[in-house]
Amino acid sequence: MKPLDTAILLAGVPLASPVTLLSGCVGFCEDLARMEGFDFSAVGAIFLKGTTLQARQGNRPPRVVETQGGMLNAIGLQNPGARHVVDHILPTIQHLPTRFFANIAGSTVAEYGEVARIFDDSPVDGIEINISCPNVKEGGAAFGSDPKVAAHVVETVKRVTSKPVITKLSPNVTDITRVAQAVIDAGTDAISAINTLMGMAIDLEKRRPVLGNGQGGLSGPAIKPVALLQVWRIHQIAGPRGIPIVGQGGITTARDAMEFMVAGATAIGLGTALFRNPLGAREVLDGMVAWGQRLGVANFHEIRGTLNQP
Ligand SMILES: Cc1cc2nc3c(=O)[nH]c(=O)nc-3n(C[C@H](O)[C@H](O)[C@H](O)COP(=O)(O)O)c2cc1C
Repeated sequence: MKPLDTAILLAGVPLASPVTLLSGCVGFCEDLARMEGFDFSAVGAIFLKGTTLQARQGNRPPRVVETQGGMLNAIGLQNPGARHVVDHILPTIQHLPTRFFANIAGSTVAEYGEVARIFDDSPVDGIEINISCPNVKEGGAAFGSDPKVAAHVVETVKRVTSKPVITKLSPNVTDITRVAQAVIDAGTDAISAINTLMGMAIDLEKRRPVLGNGQGGLSGPAIKPVALLQVWRIHQIAGPRGIPIVGQGGITTARDAMEFMVAGATAIGLGTALFRNPLGAREVLDGMVAWGQRLGVANFHEIRGTLNQP
């Protein structure tokens, strides 16, 4: 059987594997770093927990609830602040044999710029922008819900960093391709899709939302069909511009991962699946390699966006 080269290029960053671990699902990697024998060779990159300028406590509990085929979370960007991450956390994980992307968030466009500037002067391999956060100056609407505002965030970040920038799109919009187009025009080097879908769980006895925050982000297998469609739609405009996509949303198995690649993803991410199986990356990568070998491809780039017409 032909050997398959698992290496991919994501926004100019060479990854040994197309399998990544998603933001918020492995914290700042402290646990994985301590886990003896954790197989980093299957993990192309790790997206660190969303980081803001100042430390944040996050939302009040309960912050997570299981739903059918998924989970709702309203962690609320709990993090120790960008300066602390760069000065005290990155030095303890940067030796690990994988790539790291910061995941940045803010309440104002200026805050995104300041956080990006702090990570620009750090060993991370790139910066992922989470534009699903509420914009306090615009009544709390998410930055990612308006193509113009989303583009403004990307331009602001691009101005202060020479590192590759990945923009993570929200599915909570009418037409995700308009936002994708705007952030590509603003200079993003890659796109992550999709972030969680807003949802609610209700405690019927108390007639109250289960989550302390009232609402939260739905993730896990329940959102996979939505994510696949959005990745495929984004690929129609990102593909011709040479902009890679990190496909995510409910991926649990190698088969899920291959579906995302066929839809147009260059890399894929494991998020909620890690809560059940923190070691899942190896299993998924091995399964992907077996699929690729059956198809006779030399690398995963050959599979990207090869979906046939219905
Ligand atoms: C507990 C939890 C925390 C998350 N925190 C972040 C975050 O800080 N920043 C971010 O961009 N996405 C965050 N996400 C979204 C994930 O990175 C991912 O995009 C989403 O969950 C879809 O993938 P999945 O269905 O495989 O989990 C979080 C998701 C979960 C479940």
